[in-house]
Amino acid sequence: MKRVFLKTFGCQMNEYDSERMLALLAGEYVPCEAPEEADLILINTCSVRRKAEEKVYSLVGRFRHLKARRPEVVVGVCGCVAQQEGERLVKRMPHVDLVLGTQNVHRLPEALREIEKGRRPLVLTEMRRDFVPPLILPSPDGRRPVKAQVTIMQGCDNFCSYCVVPYVRGREVSRPPEDILKEIECLVERGVREVTLLGQNVNSYGKKEPGFPTFAELIRLVAEIPGLWRIRFTTSHPKDLSEDLMRAFAEVDKLCEHLHLPVQSGSTRILRRMNRGYTRDEYLEKVRRLREICPEIALTTDIIVGFPGETEEDFRETLSLLEEVRFDEIFSFKYSDRPYARAREFSDKVPEEVKAERLERVHELQARITQEINRSYIGKTVEVLVEGPSETRPELLTGRTRTNHVVNFSAPEGLDLKGALVYVLIKDTGKHSLRGEYLKTVKGP
Ligand code: 5AD
Ligand code: SF4
Repeated sequence: MKRVFLKTFGCQMNEYDSERMLALLAGEYVPCEAPEEADLILINTCSVRRKAEEKVYSLVGRFRHLKARRPEVVVGVCGCVAQQEGERLVKRMPHVDLVLGTQNVHRLPEALREIEKGRRPLVLTEMRRDFVPPLILPSPDGRRPVKAQVTIMQGCDNFCSYCVVPYVRGREVSRPPEDILKEIECLVERGVREVTLLGQNVNSYGKKEPGFPTFAELIRLVAEIPGLWRIRFTTSHPKDLSEDLMRAFAEVDKLCEHLHLPVQSGSTRILRRMNRGYTRDEYLEKVRRLREICPEIALTTDIIVGFPGETEEDFRETLSLLEEVRFDEIFSFKYSDRPYARAREFSDKVPEEVKAERLERVHELQARITQEINRSYIGKTVEVLVEGPSETRPELLTGRTRTNHVVNFSAPEGLDLKGALVYVLIKDTGKHSLRGEYLKTVKGP
């Protein structure tokens, strides 16, 4: 059996595509940990922020020597940077054999056969408006994961002015509900208990396809799958967050009480320049309504600091929004120019040191809020889906609460809890996690 080294950058959508590539290669390749041992090296890339793209170039560059020593090794770059750069990538890095765009993942086996015949470099980056990712069933490879992701739609039609995604992932297209359900059923047969439904903007699921269910209806269909215990989804655009979807949090038992709702900025003026389609007040109103319907819901968000034209006053509105909403966790980034995105033409760029200082202030504020929220868990009993031993402390088990908090906990020795749903008593907190003690098993494994 040949060996494949696969490294994934970026979002869950990319992790999903990596899983599909491994499924396509199953039977011919087994995954390996070290690029030096591999017959095939695949880098699945992200271009959402400049830093992510730079990481890719430095990693792919490192394989130049390896390729010089062992020319038979196939080096492939896939994902968003592959889509964005296309031919430019092989010109800049002649040791790359394959550039596989975001709509061409399923063509990987065919591409490898061509390369074997000596046709290299191969650049497959065609995109079609109506492209629907074909069904690729997950391969049984003995890893037995407890949770999995399933893409329900590809692409994005929103064109936020900072964002490269519509250009590298194409227009919004929803996958047929039958494909989605079949894929999840197959995962559940393999032992998966929790599924995350993925899309750039899941709220618009099915809107363009006549006869498709709405997203809230799709969740209810997924919830009927026996043996599936938990459902999550990401990402949700605040402007399209419907009352129907909010109600699903209270009504569908399997839907976990956590929502990632990227706000990006607390200033209506900046939100307008970002082309986000909602104001600060409209966002806050959605949060208020959501908490009215489902009081225990945990919220997380994305923040961009230093968007072109962001003044100190605008930035303070972001801080005040963080204080007002009290997110469980946030992901915050310094604005960076991206290819094709409109904001790169905006003239009033914020200096790098101001962006860095603002990011620091956001981190400080959020660290305090996250810690306060984490502390409020002490003494409570939570339901955790056990994923296995903790990577950093293998003597502890790890899993997540329904509200998506990581819990590391101790359990009696010899108890095989991977894949079980258990109650844990929270005793302490880490910076980004909770610590506890096993109480009892609710279900499984
Ligand atoms: N600069 C900085 N952050 C960005 N994001 C997207 N584009 C940019 C950019 N040009 C952030 C947003 C988005 C997350 C995935 O990445 O916050 O929600
Ligand atoms: Fe990165 Fe966006 Fe591509 Fe995901 S879709 S890999 S976040 S650029």
